[in-house]
Amino acid sequence: MYLYRGIACVWALVGLFAVGPTELVAQDRDTQVERSQDRGQQLFAAHCARCHGLAANGGEGPSLLGRRFERAAEQSDLVRIVLDGIPGTAMSRAWVDESEATDIAAYVWTLARVAEGPIPGDAESGRRLFEGSAGCSECHIVNGKGVGLGPDMSDIGARRGLPFLRESILLPGSSIPQGPISLHSSFLVVSVVMKDGTELRGMRVTEDAFALNLRDRRGRYHSINKSQMASLERETGVSLMPDYRERLTEDQVTNIVAYMASLRGRR
Ligand code: HEC
Ligand code: HEC
Repeated sequence: MYLYRGIACVWALVGLFAVGPTELVAQDRDTQVERSQDRGQQLFAAHCARCHGLAANGGEGPSLLGRRFERAAEQSDLVRIVLDGIPGTAMSRAWVDESEATDIAAYVWTLARVAEGPIPGDAESGRRLFEGSAGCSECHIVNGKGVGLGPDMSDIGARRGLPFLRESILLPGSSIPQGPISLHSSFLVVSVVMKDGTELRGMRVTEDAFALNLRDRRGRYHSINKSQMASLERETGVSLMPDYRERLTEDQVTNIVAYMASLRGRR
């Protein structure tokens, strides 16, 4: 009996000494972590919010809330993503130094634990509209189904956030690069008048110094010799995608957006 009490006492004493200092260290570390996350949040607003949204709920880039990252198993992988960007996607490197990137990563890492709200709308009726009466499948492929005049949608939900998806339907063209056009800008709409008076309009598929290939609205390809052209106009900020503001109800738009957000496929 006494022996037990004695042991308990010794443990309590050991506990006192052991807990005191480590707790202090832990507190110190916590404030340090918080400070780093705060600075990370500010840097996020400056460098990332443009595409991921101020609340990180998505835009031109995907929502970063409550998800597991494809390319980042650990916080340190996020540092690399910030410093290098994601090759082959719209996300280029951020112009920050390693310590700033570390703070951004610390902040973004905490977002993975913030639950993303439920996605409004009914994805299943969205799918029926997409493949049916809204005619989206006439220009967009999902998992191999449809026609590919516009971008493939199989993983659109992992690439884009809700606000961007909405805007793409209501204000087509908002996603097209508005900046300087190069030979490689995708989905560029071009109008051509030939020397014999023929007019062609469509999406440029390839272009070099001598020839231009375009695909018209019906999906037909035209290979045009530049020496036969009277004029060539590159229409920036113009989309071949129809404007759906008048054609779809608010609910229908919400359902189609819900369907697109659910497409995380292929990866
Ligand atoms: C120009 C737009 C743009 C900017 C600016 C941008 N991103 Fe992205 N980001 C994207 C796009 C688009 C994707 C989706 C890439 C894909 O998977 O196709 C993405 C994906 C991501 C992912 C997901 C990676 C994964 O493996 O799942 C993370 C994390 C991320 N961005 C963090 C950031 C951070 C942090 C910043 C700021 C330093 C930033 N992004 C700035 C466009 C952007
Ligand atoms: C006549 C062809 C056509 C039809 C029909 C069409 N689109 Fe598009 N869509 C495009 C093209 C081309 C683009 C490429 C960028 C641009 O021109 O806006 C695009 C871009 C998009 C984007 C942006 C993709 C990205 O990653 O940037 C979304 C989202 C989209 N379309 C959704 C839809 C939905 C939903 C429907 C049906 C309601 C639809 N589209 C019908 C041709 C079409």
